[in-house]
Amino acid sequence: MPDFDSTYRVVRRRSEPDVRSLDSYRHQGGYAALEKAVREQSPEQLVQQVRDAKLRGRGGAGRLTAEKWLIVRRQDDPIKYVICNAYDADPRSWAARSLLERNPHQVIEGIMLAAYAVGASEAYLFTRSLFLEGIASVQQALEQALDANLVGRDVLGTDFSCTINVLGVDLGFMGGEETVQFAVIKGRRGMPEQRPPYPAQYGLWDKPTAVNSIETLANVPVILRDGAAAFTSVGTTTTGGTKVLTVYDYVPDSEPKVVEIPFGATLREILRHAGYSRPEDDLRAVVVGGAEGGALPTSLLDMPFDYDSLEEAGAIVGSGVIELLPANTCMVAWAMEQSRYLSKESCGKCVP
Ligand SMILES: Cc1cc2nc3c(=O)[nH]c(=O)nc-3n(C[C@H](O)[C@H](O)[C@H](O)COP(=O)(O)O)c2cc1C
Repeated sequence: MPDFDSTYRVVRRRSEPDVRSLDSYRHQGGYAALEKAVREQSPEQLVQQVRDAKLRGRGGAGRLTAEKWLIVRRQDDPIKYVICNAYDADPRSWAARSLLERNPHQVIEGIMLAAYAVGASEAYLFTRSLFLEGIASVQQALEQALDANLVGRDVLGTDFSCTINVLGVDLGFMGGEETVQFAVIKGRRGMPEQRPPYPAQYGLWDKPTAVNSIETLANVPVILRDGAAAFTSVGTTTTGGTKVLTVYDYVPDSEPKVVEIPFGATLREILRHAGYSRPEDDLRAVVVGGAEGGALPTSLLDMPFDYDSLEEAGAIVGSGVIELLPANTCMVAWAMEQSRYLSKESCGKCVP
């Protein structure tokens, strides 16, 4: 059984030292990447490191983060934005809230590095208003970072400035979609818009905007601190690093486990790491990808968890929610329930 404990990079478990205060985060190397970037590196050098690390967006589609940033950076417009998507559209995902609650400074450092890379001077952290503990945690961290001149005007005495606004809204499933978030920030009804044009060119207030998942951004300080080679020492040849997953057993109302696994780990290894080693006979299927995901038979438990393998098998990385279905599950009823949920959540909104 591989040791996944040593490859955690963004999730902070309760057994690990608390990094919610600025001092403790700094004590563990926090903000060193931001300091180095703004003092010694050009934005292009920063983007190149993220490209070398093969960082792909963790928000679902898995696009290369460096490609998106370059498009934003190259737009001939002095005003650009960064949005940290910390919404967790899938109500069963605990990924964003766990990063907000337990590792807020790493998220803030990731946002600032993204802003420096693309040339943005304003960023928004978009989350759900019901994540009360997460919002309190990130707001407290933000105040500390502002006091230490790590966020705001003339960061660390350089000419790089960027403010971060925290926004908590509840809009159901569609609230995780980027154009819905633009509408809400502008004070409009949370409805999606047609794409293209894509946000990297015409995003918030029609300005070039880098929308990145909170998990994507939390990985950026790790890449810059440890180097791209260390980052890609974990993962597959096409996707560097790890994925945060929320894993549910089939016992009703049981709390899920939030784990972080290297891309390429098998489903069996993931379930074992999460503490679920049920006999295969007890399972009907494993649902991978959450609300929009697919149900995989137990014969695929040794399949690696990565974008391509999952897609081939009929599932997706999606929200990173994995759910065990007990042996007596009616798969038709399961599919009906899944469709009903998506239909209700996207009714009147899904055309764009
Ligand atoms: C219905 C819907 C829900 C979404 N929910 C989320 C979400 O909860 N978190 C997220 O990061 N991206 C979500 N996305 C994708 C975002 O629109 C966007 O592509 C993503 O935040 C980009 O970040 P990434 O490049 O780091 O993956 C959703 C998209 C759709 C269509």
